[in-house]
Amino acid sequence: MKAAFNPKQPFELPLLLPSQVPMQEWESARVLKACVRSRAALGALNEAAATLPNPDVMLSSLVLLESQASSEIENIVTTADALFEAQQDASRADAPTKETLAYRSSLYHGLQAIKQRPLSTRLIEEICSLTKGIDMQVRRVPGTQLSNARTGETIYTPPQGEALLRDKLANWEWFCHVDANDPRSEDERFVATLDPLVRMAVLHYQFEAIHPFLDGNGRTGRVINLLFLVQQGLLGQPVLYLSRYILQHRTRYYELLLAVSQEGSAEAWQEWIVYMLDAVHETALWTLAKIKAIHRLMEETQRRVEAHTKLGKQKDLITLLFKLPYCRIADIVDADIAKRQTAAVYLQTLAQAGLLSTQERGRDKLFLNHRLIALLKSESNDFEETNTLASNTQLH
Ligand SMILES: Nc1ncnc2c1ncn2[C@@H]1O[C@H](COP(=O)(O)OP(=O)(O)O)[C@@H](O)[C@H]1O
Ligand SMILES: [Mg+2]
Repeated sequence: MKAAFNPKQPFELPLLLPSQVPMQEWESARVLKACVRSRAALGALNEAAATLPNPDVMLSSLVLLESQASSEIENIVTTADALFEAQQDASRADAPTKETLAYRSSLYHGLQAIKQRPLSTRLIEEICSLTKGIDMQVRRVPGTQLSNARTGETIYTPPQGEALLRDKLANWEWFCHVDANDPRSEDERFVATLDPLVRMAVLHYQFEAIHPFLDGNGRTGRVINLLFLVQQGLLGQPVLYLSRYILQHRTRYYELLLAVSQEGSAEAWQEWIVYMLDAVHETALWTLAKIKAIHRLMEETQRRVEAHTKLGKQKDLITLLFKLPYCRIADIVDADIAKRQTAAVYLQTLAQAGLLSTQERGRDKLFLNHRLIALLKSESNDFEETNTLASNTQLH
């Protein structure tokens, strides 16, 4: 008989094998229904992201927001403004902002890496190291525990012993890489029938339960979620703002992870899987609406620049202002859009037209695409169409 769950004892985490965990019962009618919804929302998001003229504009902003939320789940708290300001030059940023930018680098590193090699223990060590800014390897020493932040009480003790952790990770890798089109054993045939979104949810639980590192497991695990979706071809670009949902439903996230370890029942697994499917569904729709709104704002900005300034089309300039919503004259020069003096005229003209606002930073002046920043931070997808402009009377 299975030993009762003891939060203070290293957990005897079962391997992800159909003979050891109730995979046969995971895909209940409720799970399958949630899967269909989430797949449809992801499909719509992918289609929108793929048909945009400048997909990388959305990418840089949404990856920053994802980095912010995923770090905030771990109480590393910064603001969208601080992040956008620091993305070109982090030298003056505070520690949480730097750490959040490091998270972003680790996500980009992972995305580059999976083009050439599969998700592996080595790669997750790299991701965790980049996030933490120090060399991180699979735990060698005992003593890692998860405790309640308020009471200090131990709620979960992950498995320990490097060899054991590496075995669990090898099984985790196997579950990641079962090729649905070419299953090679009875077990693989079974795993191959699972929806990739269900596999992502299962992998995320298993990774967190293994808890391979001394720290950084939450953030590394959430980078892996996006990498897995990209690798499975379910997400063309890592624009999905998945950590937003987890941050908003953080207590439930912890409860459901713990319940799978405590109970290990089909019901506990289903609750967890539905939670992650709902996270995909909700954030795919949120991101889709946001992408469309950003696109509308870009087009509207373009029209205003043409109609109300003497600058002409300025496509490259506007694209840059949407990639770098905190822009310096030097950024325009670096992007080869104009020489210094012309760049200054451009930015000042746009500021006079109310399309940018300005802030002094030492000897530097920052030009803020404040409407974009407001849109990214807002729950709503409306943006101020006119009242930030100096003269709006002739527009209606
Ligand atoms: N009961 C649990 N069992 C397994 N993992 C959990 C449990 N509760 C929380 N977690 C995971 O542990 C993460 C925190 O681990 P930690 O190593 O501190 O990550 P980070 O450094 O990124 O802060 C949470 O974000 C969550 O993913
Ligand atoms: Mg931590």
